[in-house]
Amino acid sequence: MQTKKPIGVFDSGYGGLTILKELQLALPTHDFMYLGDNARAPYGPRSYDTVYQYTLEAVDWLFDKGCDLVILACNTASAKALRTIQQKDLASRGSHKRVLGVIRPTTEVVGQFSSSKQVGIVGTKGTVESESYPTEIAKFFPDVKVFQHACPMWVPLIENRAYNTPGARYFIEQDLKSLLAQSAKIDTLLLGCTHYPLLLETIESLVPNGVKVLTQGAIVAASLVNYLKRHADMDASITKNNDCVFYTTDATLDFDAHAADFLGYSVESLPAML
Ligand code: DGL
Repeated sequence: MQTKKPIGVFDSGYGGLTILKELQLALPTHDFMYLGDNARAPYGPRSYDTVYQYTLEAVDWLFDKGCDLVILACNTASAKALRTIQQKDLASRGSHKRVLGVIRPTTEVVGQFSSSKQVGIVGTKGTVESESYPTEIAKFFPDVKVFQHACPMWVPLIENRAYNTPGARYFIEQDLKSLLAQSAKIDTLLLGCTHYPLLLETIESLVPNGVKVLTQGAIVAASLVNYLKRHADMDASITKNNDCVFYTTDATLDFDAHAADFLGYSVESLPAML
């Protein structure tokens, strides 16, 4: 019997499911394994050391489960842990192990969407304070000006399934006002947190006409397809049975009920201990 070698997809909680959904559409036969660290979400307000430690534990857990390739489907983990893991930890985990994030693929294309060359980004406190987006975007689009705003209430509202309430709309409106007040020329708004696509409808109803709201799922999926074309050995090692297994560090029944909101289909998750 062939041992399963899925692509590991990790997020602090549910947000990575918005990425997984697009990965499954782009790579319909590849096997996936999703891990949500719901018990310790949100990561957004946590220190570098904590996000790094939690993320490394999750990556090692997915490696142990047979994943050779892990996608950090979390901007906060990509901003605060990815580089250290790639530079410091991967070598001792085996030469065939790889970890990729969601910030780099996004910054490679985001400038293409803006005519005014002014891009607004909303994200967690950790992502915004890391300055990863302005730094990376400057490499690919030196003429693009980046405006950021941290929205610490949004992930807790989503994790607690309270995102369709008048209270949630109030916070979303206040945060969007704060971001858009930084420049009247922002014509592209990037949702720089994988949880935020669940708020897309509300956000689109609150931004002025002419502001395009960008989500990351399709961008990350296109980038992974390209990566696997360039890394044929890695692609060949991933098993392809159109299979996906879900793990959560918190209550599986809660995960299953909530995951359906993100994925549009039902799942039965298994418990994970990191
Ligand atoms: N989904 C994660 C991101 O993209 C973060 C959520 C959190 O704060 O845990 O940043």
